[in-house]
Amino acid sequence: MCGIVGYVGPRDCTEVLVSALKKLEYRGYDSAGIAVFENGKIEVAKTKGRLSDLETKMEKEGKPNGHAGIGHTRWATHGEPSDVNSHPHSGRRVTIVHNGIIENYKELKQFLIDNERTDFLSDTDTEVVAQLLDFYYDGNPVRCIRKVLHEIRGSYALGIVFADRPETVYAVRCESPLIVGQGTGEVFVASDVPAIIKYTKDYYLLEYGEIAVLKNGSVHFCSLHGRMIDKELHTADWDEDSAEKCGYPHFMIKEINEQPTAVKTTITPRIENGLPNLEECGITPEILRSFNNIFIVACGTAMHAGMVGKYVIEKIARVSVTVDIASEFRYRDPLIGENDLVIIISQSGETADSKAVLNLVKGTGAKSLAIVNVKGSSIAREADMVIYTHAGPEIAVASTKAYMVQLSVMYLLAFEMAFAKGKISEEQCRQLTSELVSMPAKIEETIGKVLDTCQYVSTKLITADSLLYIGRGLDYALSMEGSLKLKEISYIHSESYAAGELKHGTISLVEDGMPVIAVATQNSLLEKTVSNIKEVKARGAMTIVICDEHADIDRDAADYLIRIPKLNETLMPMLATVPMQLLAYYTSVNKGNDVDKPRNLAKSVTVE
Ligand code: F6R
Repeated sequence: MCGIVGYVGPRDCTEVLVSALKKLEYRGYDSAGIAVFENGKIEVAKTKGRLSDLETKMEKEGKPNGHAGIGHTRWATHGEPSDVNSHPHSGRRVTIVHNGIIENYKELKQFLIDNERTDFLSDTDTEVVAQLLDFYYDGNPVRCIRKVLHEIRGSYALGIVFADRPETVYAVRCESPLIVGQGTGEVFVASDVPAIIKYTKDYYLLEYGEIAVLKNGSVHFCSLHGRMIDKELHTADWDEDSAEKCGYPHFMIKEINEQPTAVKTTITPRIENGLPNLEECGITPEILRSFNNIFIVACGTAMHAGMVGKYVIEKIARVSVTVDIASEFRYRDPLIGENDLVIIISQSGETADSKAVLNLVKGTGAKSLAIVNVKGSSIAREADMVIYTHAGPEIAVASTKAYMVQLSVMYLLAFEMAFAKGKISEEQCRQLTSELVSMPAKIEETIGKVLDTCQYVSTKLITADSLLYIGRGLDYALSMEGSLKLKEISYIHSESYAAGELKHGTISLVEDGMPVIAVATQNSLLEKTVSNIKEVKARGAMTIVICDEHADIDRDAADYLIRIPKLNETLMPMLATVPMQLLAYYTSVNKGNDVDKPRNLAKSVTVE
């Protein structure tokens, strides 16, 4: 989704804005622009395309030169990607950048037209806000912003400059995330911390309806009602290297390699004397015993982590779990009751549909638990309980390490719940926990073992028009993620299917040479899965089988075998994920795609 940045300080503002926007590229965008005060006048440069296109344009046409301004990467919602629809947008005295959607922009536009404001240049909802600010501007910027905020509906974050308030940047947030970085004698605005980490690790989280005024290298905050606010300064616990490629060709492969550390950092503080202990997250054995039903709600990859969670929690803790896509759950009037637990999984903590689920839970008597990677994000703050995953910043659009740590939390939760409910003994719980503790080393071993094979096998996938992922039980839950990973970055159509369901329709798609990736790590289901693999093989499929190092797979069932270390079968998804990530990664690389920024996708989906 769109990225917002802003700067006030002694540095070259254009340079800071462009460098900060580059750090937000992962969010996805189709155009970019900046507005900078130059000799007291607002200079705008913007274009459709990448930030490099903006830089080329500024080299040709002149680069705004000053020390305060705002910048934007746009992911088109209202109006096609074009120069004119790019942000910033201006009224006569006000220039803004905007992330999110203004739902009532049509009626506001009509109001402006009725009041003889007809000079609209673009198709965007953003320009309507710029014009509205301009319409109400009476020389008091904060009063004007407050007035407009009362009129607009939707989810948004705004960066604003007023022509008669040089060297000052205003920022406001409703739903869409925004932070304010505090350096020495300089201040920043950004949609996310990676944008400013090069300059400062200290930042404030802007809350719903708060207005930030950045001036003279410092910031003050006020509420929608005009009250001054004191805010807590946070410090990022990671550095610039975490947001850089550090010699890797892409963020995705760097993040795949960061998984052992991410898992270790996530689970270590939650294990005490060999047993899971989630008390630091406000989750006690008594609480875990109290739930009748569990709902896991999320989007995309995070929802797939929830699918694995369902299988594991039901299998070990014997509690019924329903997994839902957030955009469906929020509108289907779900039967949530007292003593139920609703778990929301989200890397960003800002996904609009997942966030909306929290409102649904309120008043039902159920408890909400957020499993979130980004500290202080909306979902983390609004849920009753939160377990932070410690993956560090995930920059590649295709999620890898965030999924892996979400899995690790699902296991911790399942083990502690099972033990609390007396479904497993202390000894069994210790055994499972110790296997989880060994996971970082096992993931590292797996990466080393399968990397070359995955690179090679991916060369067999690049010409495919379509392929299937199949598996049973946990392997099926996992194959959903394998399939999504491949399609989102390779652009090859792919479906995941429960292997036993193939015969009920989908097997008719199988023809000569069609790749079928079978995940077969569940020993208890191995024979059945192998039969399904043979069925597709007999119909001409090219079969790629992911299984443990000892699995007995007939050579004639698999064209390619990818063997991973063997663990307790319940924990195998964490290892089997690795070859699926690598297959997707290398297929995308071999196709020459933009691996980290796949087309049409945004990292953080802050609108519905
Ligand atoms: C795919 C991917 C997405 C996200 C989904 C939810 O690789 O990353 O499917 O998982 O958009 O995002 P979060 O986890 O931020 O709520």
